[in-house]
Amino acid sequence: MARKNRVTDHPVYQDHELALRLADKYHTPLYVFDEPTIRTNAQEIISAIAYRPFHPRYACKALTIGAILRIVREEGFWIDASSMNEVDRAILAGFKPSEIYYTGEGATLPIYQRLVERGILVNCTSIDQISLLGRAGGVRCSVRLNPGEGDGANNRTNTGGPSSKHGIYFTQIDEVKKVTTDNGIKVVGVHSHIGSGTDLSRWLFIKDKTLEMAKQFPDLEIVNLGGGFPVIYNDENDGGMPLEEWGRALSKSMEEFSRELGRKIELQIEPGRFLVASSGVLLAEVQAVKATDPDENSTGYNFAIVNTGLNHNIRPSLYGAYHPIRFAPRDGVPRADKKPYVIAGYLCESGDVFTVDKAGVLVPRYLPEVQLGDVMVMGGIGAYSHSMKSEYNSMNLPASVLIEESGYTRVIERRGTLHDLMRREVEAYDDTAT
Ligand code: LLP
Repeated sequence: MARKNRVTDHPVYQDHELALRLADKYHTPLYVFDEPTIRTNAQEIISAIAYRPFHPRYACKALTIGAILRIVREEGFWIDASSMNEVDRAILAGFKPSEIYYTGEGATLPIYQRLVERGILVNCTSIDQISLLGRAGGVRCSVRLNPGEGDGANNRTNTGGPSSKHGIYFTQIDEVKKVTTDNGIKVVGVHSHIGSGTDLSRWLFIKDKTLEMAKQFPDLEIVNLGGGFPVIYNDENDGGMPLEEWGRALSKSMEEFSRELGRKIELQIEPGRFLVASSGVLLAEVQAVKATDPDENSTGYNFAIVNTGLNHNIRPSLYGAYHPIRFAPRDGVPRADKKPYVIAGYLCESGDVFTVDKAGVLVPRYLPEVQLGDVMVMGGIGAYSHSMKSEYNSMNLPASVLIEESGYTRVIERRGTLHDLMRREVEAYDDTAT
């Protein structure tokens, strides 16, 4: 049986003692990333594809810490960047400019000029951005096309179809050809990414649509079919991405496509979540356990309040995303009685709740009795939690630690401080009068 990419397989999710040890050593709240998980996820993608040439990229918006970028690089991935700072962070982590691809809605002329100077391939996301690339001196580009259909774990992560702002709509290919020709730009790449958290059949369907569109570009060298691979957050809903089946189908289509065109076209993909979601857990400590009484409008609830919140993982409040949660009992003794708990954060915000559905309705979890000082382990925070964090309520950002392949743990990003919070503000003062 092929391995499934399940977020509950994280070593700290599986081992209460390890969770307590890490919480004591590094303090909470704490992000803990697991290096072997990232390496295995990366290797499984690469070995699923027989077709060559093939260059997988990592969509580094999912988790952008330098130590993580270096691991992904060692596994042979290139980078998909969505901002100039992501480009710079990738370069600092050792990626060559030729290994970076830039997809950003609304880039400015100075950004395109810097990308062109460095020889970074730009993936244009609108007709206006193609003209801008012409002004920046670009002579080659890729184009992000919206194939007219999308998919995703929810409507906020769907990036295809008429309601999506992303890419150039598939009906406007003639305009793309005209603007690129007018600006002396060759379209060497065609890209689509239809959403985050799709499934195999949708992914393959969009792949076919993208290859059809790509045939219309005579200078084509690359097709980039985006990311979007699902991982298993909730063990009760199976699914995930059957990589072997995906790899076989994709390799076969690319062979046929290249045969039809009479030359080899380079295949690229750019998953983010699949590489890192299962590599991370968030640790926090229970700081209060309290209950409300029922009234005529509502049932009562048991709340477990932890010292983290939507500032460290916004996905439940923003999308109703499910993250598995366990508590490591502080005294190390497992507790038998199960009760329904709403797990909530420490912020001054009603929506700061981790156990909610897509409509924002509280969904209590049945868990063994939770007590003060227990350590919460939240799974699946490797993708889009650390990278979407904020400093709301002036809370310090958590430290991040990495469990290396040897089992050794090290801090890869220190905890935030008041100094970090105020630095830009203090530095903005004009002290010439003093
Ligand atoms: N390529 C492009 C152009 C993208 O916009 C994205 C994600 C990816 C690749 C990687 O997609 P992935 O393989 O990770 O699904 N914050 C949301 C996800 C937003 C995804 C944004 N773009 C979440 O927490 O679910």
